[in-house]
Order: sequence, then C-alpha cells, then structure tokens
Amino acid sequence: MSESGKNPEERHSELVAEINRHNHAYYVDAAPTISDQEYDLLYRNLLKLEQQHPDLITSDSPTQVVGEGSWSRMQGSWSQIQGSWEQLNTRIGPALTYFASVPHAAPMLSLDNTYSKEEVEEFTKRVAKLLLGKPHSFVVEPKVDGVAVSLRYEGGRLVLGATRGDGKQGDDVTQNLRTIRRLPLTLAPVDGASLPEVLEVRGEVYFPSAGFAEMNRKRVEAGEAPFANPRNAAAGSLKQLDPKLVAQRPLAIVLYGPGEMKGVDCATQEEWFALLPRFGLPTPSWHRPCADTAAVLAAIEELDALRKTFPYETDGAVVKLNEWPLRAQLGLTSKAPRWAMAYKYSAERARTKLNDVTFQVGRTGTITPVAEMEPVFVSGSTVRRATLHNLDDLERKGVRKGDFVYVEKAGEVIPAVVGVDLEARTGAEEPVVAPALCPSCQAPLTREGIFLRCTNTARCPEQVKQRLLHYAQRSAMDIENLGDAAAEQLIQKGLVRDPVDLYGLALEPVMALDRMAEKSARNLLDGIAASKERPLGKFLFALGIIHVGATSGNDLAAHFGSLEALMNASLEEIESVPQIGGVMAKSLRDYFDNPENRALLQRYLDAGLRFTVPQKATEGPLFGKTFVLTGTLSAPREAFAERIRAAGGKIAGSVSKKTDYLLAGEGGGQKAKDAKKHEVPVLDEAAFERLVRGEEPFLPAGTFQLEG
Ligand code: IVH
Repeated sequence: MSESGKNPEERHSELVAEINRHNHAYYVDAAPTISDQEYDLLYRNLLKLEQQHPDLITSDSPTQVVGEGSWSRMQGSWSQIQGSWEQLNTRIGPALTYFASVPHAAPMLSLDNTYSKEEVEEFTKRVAKLLLGKPHSFVVEPKVDGVAVSLRYEGGRLVLGATRGDGKQGDDVTQNLRTIRRLPLTLAPVDGASLPEVLEVRGEVYFPSAGFAEMNRKRVEAGEAPFANPRNAAAGSLKQLDPKLVAQRPLAIVLYGPGEMKGVDCATQEEWFALLPRFGLPTPSWHRPCADTAAVLAAIEELDALRKTFPYETDGAVVKLNEWPLRAQLGLTSKAPRWAMAYKYSAERARTKLNDVTFQVGRTGTITPVAEMEPVFVSGSTVRRATLHNLDDLERKGVRKGDFVYVEKAGEVIPAVVGVDLEARTGAEEPVVAPALCPSCQAPLTREGIFLRCTNTARCPEQVKQRLLHYAQRSAMDIENLGDAAAEQLIQKGLVRDPVDLYGLALEPVMALDRMAEKSARNLLDGIAASKERPLGKFLFALGIIHVGATSGNDLAAHFGSLEALMNASLEEIESVPQIGGVMAKSLRDYFDNPENRALLQRYLDAGLRFTVPQKATEGPLFGKTFVLTGTLSAPREAFAERIRAAGGKIAGSVSKKTDYLLAGEGGGQKAKDAKKHEVPVLDEAAFERLVRGEEPFLPAGTFQLEG
C-alpha cells in the first residue's frame, strides 16, 4: 500500500490520468492549471512508483513518451531540450534494423496542384456542377510542407504511425513518431467527445522553422553538412532507425485529414477541425470556411499574408469541399480526389546562368558541389554561388554546365539551385562530372551515402586551411590578421599543418610570404601571441571536435573549470553536464582517448597557451540570489540575465520557494501567479535597478505588490 492508502495499481492509473490531463491543459489548451513544480512532483511520483513496480509501466504512461515530464515543458530553446534528453534515453525503444512496410487501411491520396487562380475557379465551378446544385461550401487550409504520415488510434491508443510510401503502403515509423512531444499516445477526449473504436488521422510531420536554423547552425559548426530545407530535415529524421536520434530533433506535427474511422461522429471538415483538438490532436492554427468562389480566393490571399508566421513552411493553400458525404459523391480521379485542390504560391526564385560547378572541401573533408553563376538578385541580395547540397541532389536535378537554373533562398539557408530550365537548353551544355580525387589534395575520394569525402584528414591542404580558419575565427581563438590568403600561404609553404603550428612561427618566414611586409607579419604574430590567453570554452570550440559548438564549449568550460579536468572526466561525468548530450559526450571522449590528440593538446600547452575560465562569483550586490525573469522587458532577457550573473546572482527557469525575486516585464502571466503563491517578491525594472545598486528595491519599504 502506498502512503495514499491506495494500492500501487490504482495509484499508478490515477497518476497517469492526472498527468495526461495536465499535459492536455498545457499542450492543447495552452492553459496549465498547475505550476511546473507541482507537475514535476506528480511526474517524479510516477517515476518513483514505476521504479518500485516496473510491471505497472504501460506504453501510454507519460514516462514512456519523450517530451512528457518536466523538461518538455521548458519554454527554452531547442538546445535546452536536447540537453535534457539524456535523462530520458532509457525510455525509448531500441534502434531498428529496418522499417516494416505496412498497408494503409484507406489509401493516402495526393492532390491536384495549380499555380493559377483561374484553375481554382474552374475547380469550384466543376464541384458545383457535379453536385447538381446541392448546397455546399469549402474550407481553405494551409498546405503544410512537411512529410505526410498517417496515425492510427485503436481504442484511443496510438497503434501505428506510417509514412505515405506509395499511397497504398508505407513504412512503420511508429517509434519515431512517438518521440514527437505534442503527440498523445493515448487519446484523452474532453468536452463530451467520445473515444472512437478506430481513428486514423493524416497530417504532416514538420521541422519547426526556429529549430531548423539552430540545428543547421550546429551542424555547420560541427563540420556536418546542413540540411537543405526543413522538409528534408523532417524526412531525414523520420528515416532514422534509432528513435534516440529522432528524439534529439524538435519534430512537430499538424493534422488535417481523416483515414479509416469507426465510431467517429463527424460530417464536415469544419467539425473535424473542432473535433481533433478535443482528442488532444494538433490541427493547423488557421483555416477558413468559405461559402463561394470569391470567399475561397479571398482566403487564399489571406493565407499568403499569414503563412510566414506559422512554425512550419507552407507552399500553398488546399481548397476542400467541406461536406464529407458530398465528397463521396464526387469520387476520385486516378490518384487525386475531385473534391480538393492545392493552389501553390510561387516561391521567390530567380533564373540565371550556371557557368560552372565547383567542389568545395569542408573542414571535416565533406565535399559540397557549388554552383558558380552569373550574379542574380533574389530575396533581397545578389547571389553568385549557390549550393547543390550533395551528389544525390546534383544527379536528381540533372544540372549541366551552361544551363539556366532557378535559385531560391529558403529561410535562413544559403541560396540553393532548385531546378533547371530545360526549355532553354541549346545542346551545348556540358555534364557535371563528380571528381574522383580531392580537388585540393588529389587523394582518392570515398563516397559515404550521399556525400563525397576526402579522408586525407591530416594533410589535405583545404581541410587544414578550413580548420585553421575555424580555429582563428572571432568566435573561437579570435586571431586578428589571419585571413584566407595568409592561411593558404602558410600551408602551401609547409609552415603550418595544424593550428598548433601557428605558435611556433618565426618572423622571417612569415615576412617572406607574398604581400606580407614586416609590419603585417608582426601584426599577425602579435595576433597569434594574443590568442594564447583565451577562455577555455573558446579553445574547446576552436579544436573542431565533432559536435562541439561554441555554446557547448562554454558550458563544458564552466562545468569542468580546466582542460585537464575535462580530459580526465568519464563519459558519464561529461554526460551529466546539463546541455551536453550523449552523442557529444562520446565525441569528446573519443577525441581525448586518441593518443595523437593528447599529444597535440600537450603541444598547445607547451606552446604556452593558458586558458582563462569564468570565475564563479563570490560577491556582488546580487550574490546568492536566484532570479526568474518573465514578460517583456526593455532589453532582451539574456541582457538582464547577464547583468544578474555579473552581479553574483543566478537565473532559474521557474518560480519556486527557492526563488528570491521575479523580475517581471509586461505580460508575465503564469510565473507572476506562481510568485504570488510562493510569496516571491516581484520586481519591475525600476526596483531591479535599485537592487543592483545595492539599495532597497521597494520604495517605500514594504509596499511592493504581488502581481496576479
Ligand atoms: S489533403 C485526399 N491537406 O500535400 C487529400 N494534404 O500534394 C489528401 N498536404 O499528400 C491530402 N497540407 O502530404 C491535404 N492541408 C492539407 C495538406 C496536405 C499538405 C500534403 C499531403 C499530400 C500532398 C499532396
């Protein structure tokens, strides 16, 4: 018997139900009814109970879903979520060796597309004609540019998640879909909805725009090739056999269509969009019922203006007949329904001549095909070079030298060649031949999946140069005057093979480089000497260890305090650092276990490098005080956070009894309520400034208000 007097089984199902209810309030209604602390307590109780009685664990327990539990409620950045992942890694299924192919109970159809408003009008007229004057209406909704999936719930439980495949059968990717934080594993109907026997829902898995930019930045930092666009990133993630890797990506889902259903009471698309949220299933935040063609066209315009604010990419609007029974009357053509049509917005793209395709060597040896083009203006800037991503992409597009190509700038990604103007071909175009040898060092290239790679890691001049530039860049060791040209010559003359060689350079040979007068040579050497004292975090980033970016470098430095401590830390110790995931921890351990790298690090130390480490504050006007920030302040929150840390204070994510002050700007809702509950004083900016100056924050004393 537990403390509550109930047997463990009852207690377990109570806790599961209660936590699922709070998840619904939090995720679906965006109106949590308890604080994060209270939620945490429930969650920890459930974990404890399951540790004591592992036989009680059910697949729908919130502990079995990645993303439930306190960390998923963090409103912070993706890296925070990623870092906390390791705490959950035992609750995810094992890696698969292949995906099973599964038939779809109802086929997954595609849509007829058009770029022309006239064709949309023709579509609505055709529908009216085929319906012989029966009253009907339309719904316009976003065309989400993600990866189509079908989810099957039986008796309220998620039993299958599959990709579209050929429309008749797809891959069973249930394990991967389970990692999507917003997706309920068990339907918990609210507002009078009843649990259907079978409910299949179709929708798109997408990579949220914000998470995408951050992931690509990390990939580039870690020397990995960036994903071309969020859609590819989502598709690539779903194809991972190891759900643990998938769970590290912030995938999300939005649902819009029905599949097979038993016991579902719904007759229109409008009702459907009202029903899904009552099961906790996410739908597009925007859709418009339309009585006639004019309303449809107006809705398409309205969506075009709004769609850039959505967390997913949209490439069009889908116009659907609202009434389901009438859809059945219209039927299908060979692969698309007659009751729906997609209108595609034209992306901002430019057409220009492709002069050549070059192959660029990255610092880890990855070879990227690059389009060298006639300059062209697209989405606000002039573009001369664009990526062709990888060999697959190049081959798929069938690009030839001399072609006219279309270029787009997708989001925050570098410009990309998206297609070829085949009509403009003259016959004089030349095929692009993938190199067999590294364009920099002539070593034979290996093909790894869709990438070509130069494995002459230590000696390939271009790789060495990229590593040198990485080491010297401002966010790493910040060596002034070490630009592309100087780096190239230093390598060519055999003076530098690794960044550590910079510290052994003498004046004479540097002066002998082209365009290097004595003054500039001295400046370069001064810049190199100055880099001997840099924060440890920057050095860790500068080393170019796979997966270790600038932020992680700082986190590691702050945690371990010295290079030696980090080098000697066990895998578990490294993993235990908040924000550092298992993949990065392993990469660090592998790096430090390699005797060559240890010898290299010794050379850095012998060269006189002495790293500075941020001191933990032991004084300051806010010493020992914990702050939580909320609402909109007059400067970014991070700016206030930095000032608080500089004054000796700490920042916490949520308000608890341990919080000393809540610094609240405009519109801080839940945290202000929590502060009231825990009797935590709430500071406005003026009060905060007084506190930093070491004065009494509240004037006159004792009149502070607790905001509700
Ligand atoms: S309805 C029978 N609605 O677009 C109709 N599809 O080009 C089936 N898509 O395969 C699809 N957003 O993957 C529908 N709001 C939306 C959509 C949507 C994106 C995708 C879907 C489909 C493809 C067709």
